[in-house]
Amino acid sequence: MQKYEPNSKTRKNAHIGSIEDYKKLYEHSINNPEDFWAEQAERITWFKKWDKIWEWDFNKANITWFEGAKLNACYNCVDRHVDAGYGAKTALIWEGNNPDETRNYNYNELLEKVQLTANALKNLGVGKGDRVCIYMQMIPELAIAVLACARIGAVHSVVFGAFAPDSLEARINDSECKVLITQDTGVRGTKNDIPMKSNADIAVKKTPSIENILVVKRTGSPIEMVEGRDVWWHNALASSDAECAPEEMDAEDPLFILYTSGSTGKPKGVMHTTGGYMVYTSTTHHYIFDYHPDEIYWCTADIGWITGHSYIIYGPMANRAVTMMFEGVPNYPDFGRFWEIIEKHKVNKFYTAPTALRALMKEGDKWPNKYNLDSLKILGTVGEPIKEPEWLWYHNIIGKEKCPIVDTWWQTETGGILITPLPGVTTTKPGSATLPFFGIIPELLDDEGNVLEGNEVEGNLAMQRPWPGMMRTVYGDHQRFFETYFEKFPGKYFSGDGCKRDEDGYYWITGRVDDVIIVSGHNLGTAEIEGSIGGHPSVAEAAVVGYPHEIKGNSIYAFVTLRTGHEITEDTRTEIIKRVRADIGPHASPEKIQFTEGLPKTRSGKIMRRILRNIASDNIDDLGDISTLADPSVVSSLVDERI
Ligand code: PRX
Repeated sequence: MQKYEPNSKTRKNAHIGSIEDYKKLYEHSINNPEDFWAEQAERITWFKKWDKIWEWDFNKANITWFEGAKLNACYNCVDRHVDAGYGAKTALIWEGNNPDETRNYNYNELLEKVQLTANALKNLGVGKGDRVCIYMQMIPELAIAVLACARIGAVHSVVFGAFAPDSLEARINDSECKVLITQDTGVRGTKNDIPMKSNADIAVKKTPSIENILVVKRTGSPIEMVEGRDVWWHNALASSDAECAPEEMDAEDPLFILYTSGSTGKPKGVMHTTGGYMVYTSTTHHYIFDYHPDEIYWCTADIGWITGHSYIIYGPMANRAVTMMFEGVPNYPDFGRFWEIIEKHKVNKFYTAPTALRALMKEGDKWPNKYNLDSLKILGTVGEPIKEPEWLWYHNIIGKEKCPIVDTWWQTETGGILITPLPGVTTTKPGSATLPFFGIIPELLDDEGNVLEGNEVEGNLAMQRPWPGMMRTVYGDHQRFFETYFEKFPGKYFSGDGCKRDEDGYYWITGRVDDVIIVSGHNLGTAEIEGSIGGHPSVAEAAVVGYPHEIKGNSIYAFVTLRTGHEITEDTRTEIIKRVRADIGPHASPEKIQFTEGLPKTRSGKIMRRILRNIASDNIDDLGDISTLADPSVVSSLVDERI
C-alpha cells in the first residue's frame, strides 16, 4: 500500500513538525500525564486553578479532571478574545442553505448576542444546572443558544433537527429540560419548510418539565404560538439586559448532555463536564487541525452531533478560530456546493464525513474542478471508516496532493479525537486513523479481555486510562455508564469498536462490534428501530442489521415476522417505513424489508444476528455455524427470499 508523507511546507509551519517531536511529547504525556495536562490546561483561562489534575477508578466508572478549578466555557470561547483585543475579528461565518445567504459575526457581536440570549433564558427562569433542550437546524442562533447556556451554567441538550417528535419527547423527558429552543421552520436543500416548531408542539404535549419554548424566526412561515408558553427569540432578546456575567463553574460541573444510541431502545444521555472537555477539545483542535490564527476552519458536521459541539463550537472558539457553519447540504443547489463554499470563503482547514465524500465522488471530478481550492491546507474526516477510493479522491482531487488528511477516530463518549494523524508528522495510509493522540493508550483486547501485545493483531478497542474530554456519566444512570463501557473489560474503557494494529503499529478501525449501526455517519441502535417496527399492529417480531452500502457506508435491513393471520401487503411495508420515520427520523428508515415466517434463534431464544448480517450482506456461502439454532431450517428460506 502506498504511504503519504506530510509535505515539507506543512511540516515547516506545523505546531509539531516531525515524528521525533511527536514521540517526545507523546512519551511525556504518558510518563508524566499530570505535568502534560497541566501544561495543556494553560490554553484555558481559569477563574481558579485546580487542586488535583485527575482522579479515576474505572472499576467504579468514576473520573474527575481539574477538580476544584473554576472556569466558564463561554467566557473561554468569546469574552477573553474580546478582552485580548480581538473583538473586531471574525468569530463565526454562517453560510445559509441558499448560496446568496451569508452572515458573519465578529467576537464583539457574538458576545453581545450571547449575553442577550443568556439574559433571555434567565428571564424565563433558567439558572445554573437547569437543562435546556435545543432543537434546531444549522442557523447561527443554534451556536448562540449553546454558548448562552454555557454562560449561565445551564446544561444544554441539543437534539439533532431531523429527529421526529417522539424522539425529541423521549430526550426532553429523560433530562427534564425546562426550556426548549427551536425555530419556526427550517430550510435544508430543496426542503424549505421543515416543521420544527410544529414537531416541538407535538413533543411537548408529553413533556411536563417544559415551561417555555423560545422560537427563532428563520423562515417566517406561519406557526402556532401558545400564549404564556411560547416566546419569540427576537422579542425575548429585545427586552433583555445587555450584560450578563459568566457564571463561575466548577471544572466538573456538567456542560452538556448529548444523546446517543445504545443497545437498548432508550437513548443514552452522554454527559460531559466543563474543565476537562474544554482542555481536551482546544488541545486536539490546535494540534490535529494545526490551527494558526486567522485561518478559516470549516467543519461540515451538524451541531446536533458531538462533532459540531467539539469542533465547530468549543474547540475552535476556545482557540479563537474563524469557525464556519453551514445550513445546507452538499448537493444543493448542485454537487459543487462544498467546493463553491471553499472557494468563496477561502477555507484553509476542512473537516467532513466519508459518506459525503462518497456521494460527491460519485458525481465526478467536474464539480470540484470548477472551483479554486488552492486555499486548502488540511483535510479531515470523521464518523466512520474511510475507504481507499474516497481517501484517494479526497487527496488527489480536493487536496491536489498537497493537503495532509487527518482521519480522526473518536466518539460522542470520548468528547474529542483519540486516534489520528498529525498533519506535520504522520505518514498516512489511506483508511487508517494511524496513531494515538497525546495521553491516549489504546489497547486491543481479545473477547476474554487479554491484551493483545505487539503488532499485526486485531481485537476490541479499549483505552487503558482516562483523558480529560471523556464523558463522566450517563445522565441519571451511572450504573448504565459502568455497564456499557467498563463492565465487559474490567479496568478499561471499552469503545464498542473493533480494530486492527498493523505492522507499523497503525490503528485501523474495523467497525462496531455491538448493536449500533452507523448509517451515513449517524449512530443508530438496532433495538430502537426494532422497537419502532414492533409497534406496528401487524408485526410480531423484527430484527434489524446493517449491510454495506456504497454511499451511506451501511444501510438498514429489517427482517420482519407478521402476526398470524396478518397478510403481507405493499401497505404493510410502507407503513413500517413511515412508522420508523415518525418514531425516530428519516435517517433510520430501513432500506430493505424482508418478511419471514421465522427468525434464526438459539434454543434460548436469542436472535443470531451474525446469520442475518451475512444474509443481508449477501455472504451466503459463509453463514457461519448454524447448528446451535433451535430450527436451522429457517435459514434456507431466509437465504432464498433475501432482497
Ligand atoms: O465506530 C466508530 C465510528 O463512529 C463511532 C462513534 O460515533 P459517534 O458517537 O456518533 O461519533 C461520531 C463522531 C465522532 C465510533 O465508535 N467512527 C468515528 N470516527 C471514525 C469511526 N470509524 C472509523 N474511522 C473513524 N475515523
